[in-house]
Amino acid sequence: MNTTDKNRAPSAAAKDVSHKANKDHVVIFDTTLRDGEQSPGATMTHAEKLEIAGLLDEMGVDIIEAGFPIASEGDFSAVSEIARTAQRAVICGLARAQIRDIDRCWEAVQHARQPRIHTFIGTSPLHRAIPNLTQDEMADRIHQTVTHARNLCDNVQWSPMDATRTEWDYLCRVVEIAIKAGASTINIPDTVGYTAPVESADLIRRLIAEVPGAQDVIFATHCHNDLGMATANSLAAVEGGARQIECTINGLGERAGNTALEEVVMAMKVRRDIMPYTTSIDTRKIMNISRRVAAVSGFAVQFNKAIVGKNAFAHESGIHQDGMLKNAETFEIMRPEDVGISGTSLPLGKHSGRAALRAKLKDLGIEAGDNQLKDIFVRFKDLADRKKEVFDDDLLALVSTTGEGE
Ligand code: KIV
Ligand code: ZN
Repeated sequence: MNTTDKNRAPSAAAKDVSHKANKDHVVIFDTTLRDGEQSPGATMTHAEKLEIAGLLDEMGVDIIEAGFPIASEGDFSAVSEIARTAQRAVICGLARAQIRDIDRCWEAVQHARQPRIHTFIGTSPLHRAIPNLTQDEMADRIHQTVTHARNLCDNVQWSPMDATRTEWDYLCRVVEIAIKAGASTINIPDTVGYTAPVESADLIRRLIAEVPGAQDVIFATHCHNDLGMATANSLAAVEGGARQIECTINGLGERAGNTALEEVVMAMKVRRDIMPYTTSIDTRKIMNISRRVAAVSGFAVQFNKAIVGKNAFAHESGIHQDGMLKNAETFEIMRPEDVGISGTSLPLGKHSGRAALRAKLKDLGIEAGDNQLKDIFVRFKDLADRKKEVFDDDLLALVSTTGEGE
């Protein structure tokens, strides 16, 4: 196989993405099926992976990282089939910096309308120590493997794993090598969730300013959530000039997870005034795919998770419910319909007030006069003190017995 550095210009496929990405378009790269599935216990079946890939494709994800083809026969066949069936997304497979990994990856993704090979190597001192490579030896390996990938596929992404803990000079040097060898996307992973927003933006800004050839490629950000900063770090990287965000549905991923797709996409949609970027995501499909990923991975979504948690559009306290009944914008910064939820919910509990009770009774077809409402309210509060949530059936039972014994 020819591994000569051809110093190529960006490929047609890369140009297509970078054209959109040059200004204000942020490419969404979903890795639920690769990094997400690496969460201990989140393994998905072949059929489940195909279903999720189909939903991601329909939702408008630009690039689906479908798996790690050399990892297992199962991963290989899932990536191959996703490559064959995807309608519009670029289909990407992951490969270590080894020729056999890259060949296997290509075997799987080559069937796609738009295939991509994503190859990576750990560049920080800790990661260089594992294969026991010197800086020069690793640089040679990067040159050789990216060139090899580019000889197979005109859309190659390269990642220096643990970039945020890699020495600055060395990071610049290897990024330049990967660009010269033909990578059209350079992903900067914060593999252990170590960076902070200010640094995340600065790192990308400096790479774009200082590395020769950086203007011709797309920089991507790939954040993990160990300190709870993955979303903030990803958005900061975009401020610094990154135009691809790598993320997963529900933030699924190793340890504390990856950047959550729904969070970065909705943040850019809701705060376009200060983050003037677009994505191709049909946000109304978010809730359905969130539920499906939770179901197939077995990872339930926490109730207070931003955007997709059960309580993300629920209001229990009297003041909030009253405000919501008057004007939804009082306590909601986005419309539930925009993320595929049918509407706000006003669950009744001990913090709820008269306005929400009256509205709920009306929904149930009960028009209560002022006196009757007063009675029902007293009994409702008594019940709510004993029960976490008062459901419709509880309320109906309570109404039917109000006035008894008086
Ligand atoms: O977190 C990471 O560094 C990765 C790489 C393989 C891109 O997932
Ligand atoms: Zn990762």
